[in-house]
Amino acid sequence: MNGLSIRPYAEGDIWVLEKTLGDPTQMVHLNGPESSEKLQKRHRKYVAMSADQHAGCMYTITMGPEKASVGNVGYWETEWDGQKGWETGWFVLPEFQGKGVATAAMRMLVDHVAALDRPFLFASPSVNNAPSNAICRKLGFVLVKKVDSEYPPGKPLRINVWRLDLKST
Ligand SMILES: CC(C)(COP(=O)(O)OP(=O)(O)OC[C@H]1O[C@@H](n2cnc3c(N)ncnc32)[C@H](O)[C@@H]1OP(=O)(O)O)[C@@H](O)C(=O)NCCC(=O)NCCS
Repeated sequence: MNGLSIRPYAEGDIWVLEKTLGDPTQMVHLNGPESSEKLQKRHRKYVAMSADQHAGCMYTITMGPEKASVGNVGYWETEWDGQKGWETGWFVLPEFQGKGVATAAMRMLVDHVAALDRPFLFASPSVNNAPSNAICRKLGFVLVKKVDSEYPPGKPLRINVWRLDLKST
């Protein structure tokens, strides 16, 4: 996608989290919005990950010559059934959704993590999150299983566990 890029999450990016993770309309598949306290904590964690990326990194997706922020994609350490990998997640501001932004940003993220030392990239959207499941399918993830999980901890969420083999991308 023309003019789209990703850069490590920065100090001034909390408003993007507020407009995605903080908005009830954007969190219908994740059991509701996060409190401002939780968003602050997440913000500090993402800034720290940008400074030391050994265990993952959150990126801000930017568009156009003015590099406007339009969402986030990221990766962090995980393990599923003894398989070490990276977990990924994505958010796009409502006004930029449906234009291929998440898919294009994820292709950049996949290129990056494929050069790292873990064999798999996992994604675990709600079984009802049609756009997220479509993104996994388009990027070549394989559906491993459906699991009754919790997100956030204590709130039930049925998820699809998708796995991308990074050594064959
Ligand atoms: C999920 C999300 C990041 C997708 O971002 P996006 O930039 O709009 O995604 P894209 O445009 O790259 O691709 C979405 C794909 O889903 C498809 N899609 C969208 N709604 C769909 C639906 N109801 N049923 C089936 N497919 C659907 C689109 O058609 C598109 O596929 P296509 O390019 O083959 O047509 C965005 O909707 C979002 O931020 N949602 C709220 C937060 C969220 O749920 N985050 C993910 C947590 S796992």
